[in-house]
Amino acid sequence: MTHTDRHFRYFLRLISRHVLLYTEMITTGAIIYGKQFHRLTYDDSEHPVALQLGGSHPQELAQCAKIAEDMGYNEINLNVGCPSDRVQNGQFGACLMSQPDLVAECVQSMQQSVSIPVTVKTRTGIDHMDDYEFLTHFIHTVSSGCKTFIIHARKAWLSGLSPRQNREIPPLTYDKVYNIKTDFPDLEIIINGGINSLEEAKPHMDKVDGVMIGRAVCHNPYLLSYADSQFFDDQTLPLSRDEIVIRYMNYMQNRLAEGDALQRMARHILGLFQGQPGARKWRRYLSENVYRDNSGIEVIEDALKYMQAA
Ligand SMILES: Cc1cc2nc3c(=O)[nH]c(=O)nc-3n(C[C@H](O)[C@H](O)[C@H](O)COP(=O)(O)O)c2cc1C
Repeated sequence: MTHTDRHFRYFLRLISRHVLLYTEMITTGAIIYGKQFHRLTYDDSEHPVALQLGGSHPQELAQCAKIAEDMGYNEINLNVGCPSDRVQNGQFGACLMSQPDLVAECVQSMQQSVSIPVTVKTRTGIDHMDDYEFLTHFIHTVSSGCKTFIIHARKAWLSGLSPRQNREIPPLTYDKVYNIKTDFPDLEIIINGGINSLEEAKPHMDKVDGVMIGRAVCHNPYLLSYADSQFFDDQTLPLSRDEIVIRYMNYMQNRLAEGDALQRMARHILGLFQGQPGARKWRRYLSENVYRDNSGIEVIEDALKYMQAA
């Protein structure tokens, strides 16, 4: 949430043509009762793109899944990993791990209403329900309606830790995720948590079917530039960072004309030059200038000129 909006996904698609992109979690309530259909809007170039839903009501989830399928999404993912208080109060997210039968009912209900895959993103456990048997029971039960699990390889504490702390303090337990793949060889198991580069991703691929990267891509999006050649057998050369900025500026201009705010789009490109000479200047120039009232696309053009001179 707050990161993988449609602008960021469009930008990431300029970097990799093949990685699967996920939306932020969007709740069934926001779609059905909040009428926030606009949050589902995306650009055709984003494919393959998965919608992540937050909810625990089987019929409502099925209704939202159908809307998403009709809009052309490639996958529906159910969030069973978010530990925030707000999400717990809504009785979805990570707390659903304690109700595997309900999660199974949710995924079955969604899968009956759509023909695209329904997947689940989860943790290795919650609170004191964190032994391997608990996780296998959860996976076994839910796999009646879902064949792909993305497992964030750490448990979540439902009280006492903030969502941020819940991404840092519980230790990573990659072996548990590897063991799930061994014990459920027919399921597709994607590992997530603390993977900071494609190099770090590779050894996981010997043990599981895929890797999900979150924060590292937000900090350094260009790390995905060799994903296509290294993981998807597409040897097309990646676009240069400069070319990406130019194409993203075109996109921004179109969105600005539709009323989108420059800041919401520009914030996603702050990390594009991470590790390159001038990266700090790029970040600082954009941060200082895109938030000014009258700022327009020329701020990005100027920042790019600084980079080219660096
Ligand atoms: C600001 C922020 C927002 C997040 N929002 C979501 C979300 O909406 N849905 C979700 O499944 N995970 C969400 N996550 C968790 C990440 O998807 C991921 O599971 C977690 O950060 C661990 O992976 P990483 O170490 O590669 O970042 C969020 C993480 C951060 C930092």
